[in-house]
Amino acid sequence: MNFQLSEEHEMIRKMVRDFATKEVAPTAEERDENETFDMAIFDKMAELGLTGIPWPEEYGGIGSDYLAYCIAVEELSRVDASVGVVLSAHTSLAGWPVYTFGTEEQKKKYLRPMAEGKKIGAYGLTEPAAGSDAGSMKTTAKEDGDHYVLNGSKIFITNGGIADTYVVFAVTDPESKHKGTTAFIVEKDFEGFSVGKKEKKLGIRSSPTTEIIFDNCRVPKENMLGELGQGFKIAMQTLDGGRNGIAAQAVGIAQGAMDAAVGYAKEREQFGKPIAANQGVSFKLADMATQIEASRLLTYQAAWLETNKLSYSKESAMAKLMAGDTAMKVTVEAVQVFGGYGYTKDYPVERYMRDAKITQIYEGTQEIQRLVISRMVTK
Ligand code: CAA
Repeated sequence: MNFQLSEEHEMIRKMVRDFATKEVAPTAEERDENETFDMAIFDKMAELGLTGIPWPEEYGGIGSDYLAYCIAVEELSRVDASVGVVLSAHTSLAGWPVYTFGTEEQKKKYLRPMAEGKKIGAYGLTEPAAGSDAGSMKTTAKEDGDHYVLNGSKIFITNGGIADTYVVFAVTDPESKHKGTTAFIVEKDFEGFSVGKKEKKLGIRSSPTTEIIFDNCRVPKENMLGELGQGFKIAMQTLDGGRNGIAAQAVGIAQGAMDAAVGYAKEREQFGKPIAANQGVSFKLADMATQIEASRLLTYQAAWLETNKLSYSKESAMAKLMAGDTAMKVTVEAVQVFGGYGYTKDYPVERYMRDAKITQIYEGTQEIQRLVISRMVTK
């Protein structure tokens, strides 16, 4: 067993850290405040090859792996979790199912431009009455000649409105719950597709989250992804990898908050000495560092398993569960280390704390991760 990252992984970390520090961090606070996504940042990520890290070069990627992708999400989230999730949803939730289940034509038509960063991807599963119980979705897809006609709506769509390509799930056979769901690739310009309400959020405010609406949306049959009735399994398998991307995002948020707290604790003096000299603060930092390291190891393990084509559903759920809780705990403690200043917008830790919360909710709540893990350890 070797816990040392390869030269390639170290190189990717360094490249993304430089980019994140120089080009993402300076505007993170402003974009959070104004809830604005910056296309120029996405374009620069494309130039660096970050939009297609795990995909082979023939599909526009850089031919690296899932660990490199997680490192990139982590480093981006270390300064701005919104940018981290834009890349995560684009790669894990849209690119992955097209790469894994798409036909050669679909990969050329949809994966390549996503990998090259010419198009942005998104994933549409959740509905108003189908959140944790994803299988109870109501959006329908009815056959009509050489098209399927989709009706319904999806909510909480990361990259909604900025995405060009949406991987969505709809009921093709209402009689058979899970086996009656099918996946489709929907282009933003398809007739009957529109973007609805944009959410105003507590955190990850510069990553757009919207409703998407299908009003007799006509999707050519060749845009069915995988087989008829295979949609639920595609959705679940996609989330297995997606959860690991969110674990990486959570590790990044926690690390960013930790770095800020350490810097402040060494600088801030009270009672004639830096506050880091008090065990009340330094032991807090020790616990934070330990929780982050444990979360990172679980995350990298799941990414390694996926890269090596071994089973990773349980491990990615564990990584997301552990890292999401760590991000929440560590960011709350980071605010505490900053005291009153931590509660203001003069320092970034309040943003990290707001951003951390979503990692306990999306891509399956912590309760759903426990359900997935417990089913696997008791079967
Ligand atoms: N891989 C492959 N197949 C799977 C699977 C997986 N990981 N999980 C389930 N399946 C299969 C099962 O084997 C079963 O197949 P058979 O019918 O052939 O036996 C079928 O799918 C149904 O499985 P379950 O009976 O376990 O389904 P369930 O209705 O009990 O639901 C669940 C399981 C884990 C609770 C699932 O509904 C779930 O994950 N819910 C959470 C949804 C979620 O994570 N939403 C996130 C939205 S996306 C998002 O948040 C993105 C973002 O913003 C960034």
